[in-house]
Amino acid sequence: MGAKIRAFRPADERVLYDICLRTGASGEDATGMYRDPDLLGAIYVGPYLRPAPTLAFVGVDEEGVAGYVLGVADTRPFETSCERSWWPMLRSSYPRSLFPPESPDGRLVDLIHQPPTADEDVVERYPAHLHIDLLPRLQGNGHGRRLLETLFDALRAAGAPGVHLGVGLANERAIGFYDRMGFTVVRRHPDSLVMARPL
Ligand SMILES: CC(C)(COP(=O)(O)OP(=O)(O)OC[C@H]1O[C@@H](n2cnc3c(N)ncnc32)[C@H](O)[C@@H]1OP(=O)(O)O)[C@@H](O)C(=O)NCCC(=O)NCCS
Repeated sequence: MGAKIRAFRPADERVLYDICLRTGASGEDATGMYRDPDLLGAIYVGPYLRPAPTLAFVGVDEEGVAGYVLGVADTRPFETSCERSWWPMLRSSYPRSLFPPESPDGRLVDLIHQPPTADEDVVERYPAHLHIDLLPRLQGNGHGRRLLETLFDALRAAGAPGVHLGVGLANERAIGFYDRMGFTVVRRHPDSLVMARPL
């Protein structure tokens, strides 16, 4: 199925939150896994859409927006700006007491209160980072490659020398895709990998 790629528009925001949820269980649908359907998007989509995103692209087919790639050219200042203007608002909306600590929602709320930061040697060589998610109807047809290459061009234009990402160990398909797209493993955590490539 053909799809075109275009820059993100503010009216796409709801759909991106939805795609994030529908691909949020190691690439599979996470609907029903979380009591709050907006939590995943609030962590992995929302911060990338403000103030005005220049590194956000979507894949659109005849049914509408069905995939996205979101990037940041320089991770450290991004972390600082989220700490100033994104996490505080979410922390008041999602106090730690809202969900049981070891529940799926509770683990996401933990991330809001203690967002992980990238390792120094990773950001030194690969200061950019990204997230990519496509609904099943867009997968397996070269759209992931096209979205990533669109983002890589934008990251190069922004001066980024390298890009990294995090991926769950359970998401073997995505790991195979990133490997094919030139990423190598730069960090191994118990449940996840950090992969990176020069630009
Ligand atoms: C992972 C994902 C982004 C890949 O996008 P896609 O459109 O399915 O992948 P493409 O069809 O563009 O594949 C690009 C290349 O990678 C290769 N590839 C894809 N998956 C692969 C795999 N598991 N192992 C080896 N190669 C793979 C393709 O063969 C293709 O190779 P080529 O272009 O050299 O011929 C997409 O499937 C997806 O969004 N999945 C659900 C959400 C998700 O898991 N996101 C990542 C979270 S970290």
